[in-house]
Amino acid sequence: MSKRPVIIDCDPGHDDAIALLIALASDELDVKGITTVGGNNKVEKTTINALKVLELTGMTHIPVAVGRSNPLMKEIRVADDVHGESGMDGPELKEPAIKPVELSAVEFIAKVVEESEEKVTLVAVGPFTNIGVFLLSYPQLHEKIECISVMGGGYLEGNRTAVAEFNIWQDPEAARVVMRSGIPVLLHGLDVTHKALIKKEEFSIFRNEKGPIFQFVADLLDFYSICYTGERKLEGCPMHDSCAVANLIDPTLFKGESAVIDIELDGEITRGACIIDLRPKERRPVEDNGKVIFDVDRKRFLDLIIESCRKLESRLSNAQ
Ligand code: BDR
Ligand code: CA
Repeated sequence: MSKRPVIIDCDPGHDDAIALLIALASDELDVKGITTVGGNNKVEKTTINALKVLELTGMTHIPVAVGRSNPLMKEIRVADDVHGESGMDGPELKEPAIKPVELSAVEFIAKVVEESEEKVTLVAVGPFTNIGVFLLSYPQLHEKIECISVMGGGYLEGNRTAVAEFNIWQDPEAARVVMRSGIPVLLHGLDVTHKALIKKEEFSIFRNEKGPIFQFVADLLDFYSICYTGERKLEGCPMHDSCAVANLIDPTLFKGESAVIDIELDGEITRGACIIDLRPKERRPVEDNGKVIFDVDRKRFLDLIIESCRKLESRLSNAQ
């Protein structure tokens, strides 16, 4: 079977970095490129972090294109309370020698989609600014997008406000463009990502394995857990962004429901909320535009992460 072509738009980010590892290790996905966006930190920092992950894995042939730092309507508000000053605090990786390509993220996405013989899947695990601008600028390319696998939103939960999840809260206008584009959305919101945990007692699985990839993940988890097992009171670290990648590799890990998904822009206290209509189909005002994921087989999901690290380690040692 041929590999599914994907572009990953991200803001690494601890969980973004682990999502990248799974994608890079996978035999099912053909990562055509990584585009970076401002979110967890400014785009200059998230780009450095993406380049660092590529260098660590030895997959330096994969292009990185720099995207927008600021959301469409406002200045960026970074998440250094969760991801630290660098956007990926914890691991000590050397400054990357590789550089991003000349094209902007939006130009890069357009070029890859235009030149691809097959439809391309977009993975959107940061704020939706780049993808929103791409969709507005290139309507003629919509039909060449297979689907958009998203980390964002949630049916019952928010994290930046009571009802708004970070990626949507950061750029709700762009998120609305994505949801209203007519391209099928696969939505991994907080309902599922807060179940997709690596539990504190499982961190040692990574620390006890030899090799730079396992140690990188262990360092990421140690830092990321300060916020999540501290003030957010979870049992471990939620692998938010990995859900949007893992579902493309093995959909049997997840369960969800078809729905109408939209974004609230004007609410006085609900701006950035993801509105998911799950009423009986005949009562929904428009056609369903996506599938909302609610559940994950956590054990098998964790196995996929471990197996991905193992594959990358063995590629690295074979290359030596
Ligand atoms: C999302 O926000 C970011 O901090 C994470 O990387 C993830 O994409 C979770 O709300
Ligand atoms: Ca992210």
